[in-house]
Amino acid sequence: MTAYKLRVGDPDRTRADVVVVGATRALSEKASGRSKGVRLAPGAEAVTTAFGRKLAPLLQSLGVEGKPGEVTKIPTNGVIKSPLLLVVGLGESVDAESVRRASGVAARAVSNAASVALALPADTAELVRAVTEGYILGGYEFTAYKSNRAAKAPVEVAVLSPIGRTVEAIAAAETAEVLAQARCLVRDWVNNPPGDFTPAKFADAVVTANKARKGRPRVSVKVFDETALAERGTGGILGVGRGSASPPRLVRLTYNPAGAKAHLALVGKGITYDSGGLSIKPAASMTTMKMDMAGAAAVVAATLSIADLGLPIQVTAFAPMAENMISGNATRPGDVLTMYGGKTVEVLNTDAEGRLVLADALGHAVESKPDAIIDVATLTGACIMALGDRVTGLMGNDDDLIDQVSAAAAQAGEMAWHLPIPDEMTEKVRSNSKVADLAQHNSERWGGALYAAAFLQEFVGDLPWAHLDIAGPAYNEKAAYGYTPSGGTGAMVATLVELATRMAESAG
Ligand code: BES
Ligand code: MN
Ligand code: ZN
Repeated sequence: MTAYKLRVGDPDRTRADVVVVGATRALSEKASGRSKGVRLAPGAEAVTTAFGRKLAPLLQSLGVEGKPGEVTKIPTNGVIKSPLLLVVGLGESVDAESVRRASGVAARAVSNAASVALALPADTAELVRAVTEGYILGGYEFTAYKSNRAAKAPVEVAVLSPIGRTVEAIAAAETAEVLAQARCLVRDWVNNPPGDFTPAKFADAVVTANKARKGRPRVSVKVFDETALAERGTGGILGVGRGSASPPRLVRLTYNPAGAKAHLALVGKGITYDSGGLSIKPAASMTTMKMDMAGAAAVVAATLSIADLGLPIQVTAFAPMAENMISGNATRPGDVLTMYGGKTVEVLNTDAEGRLVLADALGHAVESKPDAIIDVATLTGACIMALGDRVTGLMGNDDDLIDQVSAAAAQAGEMAWHLPIPDEMTEKVRSNSKVADLAQHNSERWGGALYAAAFLQEFVGDLPWAHLDIAGPAYNEKAAYGYTPSGGTGAMVATLVELATRMAESAG
């Protein structure tokens, strides 16, 4: 395990195997495109001074432009104490997100260093947090199944900051560690092969993760197995899970600190594998479907983080877990399921399974009488069609809550975009089945993300509710960028924790 330390010292005198600094491109020189406008960013002043007049021509001959994603390694030959200077591009603006990304890029570029000093812009608590968070997130690797590759993380990473001794900076660094580790836990869970991460194993992993939090504010975890689910009448979870040899689970987490200012209910889709069921997916669409539990992982990790940070807000989280498979016992298109609470649903496409497990979990969330409900789900390919694979679709029934979630996402550096739930969709959900109360699936494919949200809305009563469709951002099928690795990303954990922080403050 890498130790992260907040330090006040100057980067030229820091004894570390690598010193990381940022490079920015001055706005005025942007148009000319010459590297003349490149400067080392705040935090690197002592390095700039140590190199003196040699710095500008050196950066120019190395082709340093200060672009995001750019990495340049410079042997220092004794100009500063550290033997290697690593320059990462920040782009044109120095803000929390550009710093977080640059720090992530640096983490991936560092190889074989026991100690690293980060001299990136860190003169505010927000930037201290960004540097720390970005480095932990960017350095993430999933090596559990590589037979001869141990992770190469450094022993010590020093975050250099002029305000490193203030309580705000120390708190920001701690928050960063809690949050980044939570996102890495989500990534591990998402990256696990689905045969090794069945609903029962996922539920066990939640119990284990909670037990590992010794000494932190208490969270209680309750696991409902298939027998308990049958007693409760959760037809959605059982209907989706019945085609699998690995039975479903529903996990409930409760965090109820003294002096809680508000009560937030979280719900996350936990399909440990989505083959599509009898409405089977094409082979190419199935290869990434181990990620279909990313919403459940996100709400669990967010709940544990909210507790770790001791935020004065009550959280009740529900993670319905099931594997969507095929067998002689699988739910058929045409079957009718009775959901928790009694509404009947005609299943028309077994690949639209997420909304079925979520309906039962939302019913439980309503019963916990929260002030608001947020659900997170890798719900629809249609949402990726609409917004691309880096933007979360945000829907709901309450404009204030939507605004709060939007603001929290922006602050957390995650992109979320509000989509409508047209009345016309609700009308279809309620009238398209000839045999049941609700139709699970719309035969018309347009607006699939909105129809799914309209379906979920039937299960939240009149409580303020927001729905986050993370089908795109939960999983990066391409190369790593910024602090986002290939594979599981940990999407929406930071947004949920930020939202909880805001709810605790505004209610206080
Ligand atoms: N898990 C998928 C959605 C998904 C697709 C997530 C691609 C990530 C990447 C979901 O269960 C699903 O299969 N949705 C269907 C719904 C359709 C049958 C109405 C879809 O999007 O095609
Ligand atoms: Mn599906
Ligand atoms: Zn799915």
